[in-house]
Amino acid sequence: MADPLYPYGNGSQLMASVTSLASTLQQQLADALTAALPDAGTADPLLRRSDRADFQANGVLALAKKLKGNPRELASQVTAALPAGGPVKDIEVSGPGFLNITLTDRAITETLAARASDGEGRLGVPSAADPGTTVIDYAQPNVAKEMHVGHLRSAVIGDAMVRILEFTGENVVRRHHIGDWGTQFGMLIQYLTEHPHELDRRDGADDGEAAMSSLNRLYKASRVLFDSDEEFKARSRDRVVALQAGDPQTLAMWQRFVDESKIYFYSVFDKLDMDIHDPDVVGESGYNDMLEETCRILEETGVAVRSEGALCVFFDDVKGPDGNKVPLIVKKTNGGYGYAATDLSAIRDRVRNLKADSLVYVVDARQSLHFKMVFETARRAGWLGEGVKAHQLAFGTVLGKDGKPFKTREGETVRLVDLLDEAIDRATAVVREKAAKVGLTEEEIVENGRYVGIGAVKYADLSTSAVRDYKFDLDQMVSLNGDTSVYLQYAYARIRSILRKAGDARPVAHPELELAPAERALGLHLDQFGEVLAEVAAGYEPHKLAAYLYQLASLYTTFYDQCHVLSEDNPAEVVENRLFLCDLTARTLHQGMALLGIRTPERL
Ligand code: ARG
Repeated sequence: MADPLYPYGNGSQLMASVTSLASTLQQQLADALTAALPDAGTADPLLRRSDRADFQANGVLALAKKLKGNPRELASQVTAALPAGGPVKDIEVSGPGFLNITLTDRAITETLAARASDGEGRLGVPSAADPGTTVIDYAQPNVAKEMHVGHLRSAVIGDAMVRILEFTGENVVRRHHIGDWGTQFGMLIQYLTEHPHELDRRDGADDGEAAMSSLNRLYKASRVLFDSDEEFKARSRDRVVALQAGDPQTLAMWQRFVDESKIYFYSVFDKLDMDIHDPDVVGESGYNDMLEETCRILEETGVAVRSEGALCVFFDDVKGPDGNKVPLIVKKTNGGYGYAATDLSAIRDRVRNLKADSLVYVVDARQSLHFKMVFETARRAGWLGEGVKAHQLAFGTVLGKDGKPFKTREGETVRLVDLLDEAIDRATAVVREKAAKVGLTEEEIVENGRYVGIGAVKYADLSTSAVRDYKFDLDQMVSLNGDTSVYLQYAYARIRSILRKAGDARPVAHPELELAPAERALGLHLDQFGEVLAEVAAGYEPHKLAAYLYQLASLYTTFYDQCHVLSEDNPAEVVENRLFLCDLTARTLHQGMALLGIRTPERL
């Protein structure tokens, strides 16, 4: 589909970054504070958005208290020290020394005009002059197993973070650490070697989904045998050894499962409207050659010690219910390497070869102890130096409507594809209801249904803080009212329709015009886009971008109710200036949604 703004405008455009009014003001106030009180050193004016004026600065009071001066006096000194001709129209000292600050309408419109003239989707947001390299580990399903809602969260949150970080100029390396190694493959391969007819039976299953569901069934059957039959268990363990040693026949079978599973994963990611590139899929098996060395270094440096035959790392603050320390096991008693050895090897690779200075892991909060121990071990071994950040972007559990972990009625894990298909069906029904009025073709209905359905699922995930659990409630997700993606998508489509209806009238900024309160509120919020993105990127918190966009759509709605855009009674400049606000709102919404991985159809 030809959608020029998706994924997002980047690169070849003008790229003139615009300083927000908030940061200009912050700087001017800080300078004025220093001028008024040379002894005070650098002082933070503590600038906040305010309901009473545009901004409120609370730092003056604190400073006066510290210096035992008169807050009101200090406040008026600061006011006098502000540069003339700046964005400040009015400063009012309120209470014991708060400053209520109102900006000129001109400053607001001029700043927005500068944003609008920066490339289509950049909107004056700066790109890091000296970017770092972040390796982000996300979207990591397991071979031969169905994808479930937990894999959805990692994929959705990770994809949004990749987009946001890249937009701020960071070098991003993606790693899909898929589960493609270990005991379970010994089990599965051994089972199929002993039940060859099962292999023949599945030869017909050549499309990804059928191949995957038969693999998943065989995986479960092998698991049952593994848990109940000691001899089969022993044979499976030998099979893992054969796999790790590179026995050709075993390896060939394993490769087949990996290939089939990948075809399936890619089809699900495609449904999710996500680009996953094969070279970025470096699963657990990719670190096999490093495992021995990783363990050897840990043992030689004394970071890991032998305990009951296993190679372990201990931590003073990690203890079990019995009060004994619980170690991180890097090598098992039987000589096998586990999940931890792989993650430690991956850290070495990412820091040394990929030159990461930030490592981000988008992984279920239930693995937090694992990552805490892995990071600490890597620090002790010197693999994670002072300058390298390691962060688990931990996410909570997806719950059913009943508030319990999401399961089918039979108690089975819900297949991710089934959920996505259902979301698309519901969304298509919602789109269809309005389709005649908007004049959508059948093809557009189907396409919009996909964008609305997938957007609904992503947005529900991204709009709550990641660590919190959330309820998977499709009715709520596709609701037109409230904090949903479809609400934002409709807001966008409505603005686009106004811009189409405007005919010859163009969006043009007129800084000389006086602004209505709803225009000021919308304008000041539009001006915050870059700062919100910087905060989201620094703290890995995409929900703050979702909250920003929702507020943007709400402020737009108020503006639209209070300020007629295409009214015959308006002078031409007012129409143009309001269209300008509409256009900038649409572009900000579009770009913000694209950074969350959500499309905004032109007509809905
Ligand atoms: N495959 C794992 C799972 O499904 C997630 C992998 C997380 N990444 C990592 N480097 N350990 O739980």
